[in-house]
Amino acid sequence: MQTNSWVPLFPDQASTFAWQVDLLYAYLIIVSIAFSIPIVVAIFYFGLKYREKEKYATPDEMHGSIALETVWSIIPFVVSMTIFLGGAYVYYNQFRIPDAPAMEVFIVGKQWMWKLQHSTGQREINELHVPVGRTVKLTMTTEDVLHDFSIPAFRTKTDVVPGRYTYLWFEATKPGKYHLFCAEYCGLNHSGMGGFVYVMEQRDFDNWLSGNVSGQTPVEQGRDLFENKLGCASCHAGGPQQRGAKLEGIFGHEVNLVGGQKVIADEAYIRKSILEPGTQVVEGFQPIMPTFKGQLTEEQLLALVRYIKSLSGVTGPTSSAGDAGAKQTASNSASNSTTVPRADRGSSNTQGSNPNAPSANSNR
Ligand code: CUA
Repeated sequence: MQTNSWVPLFPDQASTFAWQVDLLYAYLIIVSIAFSIPIVVAIFYFGLKYREKEKYATPDEMHGSIALETVWSIIPFVVSMTIFLGGAYVYYNQFRIPDAPAMEVFIVGKQWMWKLQHSTGQREINELHVPVGRTVKLTMTTEDVLHDFSIPAFRTKTDVVPGRYTYLWFEATKPGKYHLFCAEYCGLNHSGMGGFVYVMEQRDFDNWLSGNVSGQTPVEQGRDLFENKLGCASCHAGGPQQRGAKLEGIFGHEVNLVGGQKVIADEAYIRKSILEPGTQVVEGFQPIMPTFKGQLTEEQLLALVRYIKSLSGVTGPTSSAGDAGAKQTASNSASNSTTVPRADRGSSNTQGSNPNAPSANSNR
């Protein structure tokens, strides 16, 4: 289904970024040609014109030319600044995640496949179905090594890094089937770690979604883990048993830690609090929470993070790629112990767990 785009070597232009990236590339190519040709011509011309005609000739003395020097300063300045501004525009467009994307998908890379889950619960392997004309946010991590999620027709890609979340967004503009690649060498079958993105009309997408029995949504899986499988609720629920911090309403807010530091409770913070609870104990609590490192799959972690977000009434995604980096520094610098904040459970969340649904592990 890939059709030719205006540059036959390039893949289809199928996202809102595509023309911007291609225009920038076209500009770079034009600038390169516009400089290389005169330079090569000048090399030959001067080589001939000023070739050695007599031995030990003394050349005329040169004096500066203000006009010439001004011209060859200003032209490269304008050229390099337009490249910089064009590049910055394209970059910010891609890496500033929209505040309210229409759709969210969670992705876990592993050698050598992509495991994807929609926020409505549907799972896919090496395939991603999305509607045309809607903003889609991907939250990504990996179980093993570094991968890179790349969709050439959308002119976007992002590294998928062990131990943290990275984000990518796009808006597809044209229905079709487009290649999906891993763009970071990740071992023997790296070249086979790919698949297809299917961009569908909204109607077809809705049909596709309803035709794929969803099982639990990530929030429901997280709730199940929190309340039943892991027993987080025994400490983080209210009442006399409460030994962990309150989780409800914390997402996106500042948390005071023992020792005086403050962190923003973002996805990276929640993840770290589950895996390394001792590093960020919330003020007023004891560092008694056990670590869950090694006991949870990345998918289960994503589900827990989603559930804890939902306790703050955050159902849509909020953090951006830029935020993730900046805030991570804050949580990394906290060297205290922690209790993960606590939830008054079941308050704002009305979705129940489905006992017949496959367990969170079923896709492993
Ligand atoms: Cu995964 Cu290359």
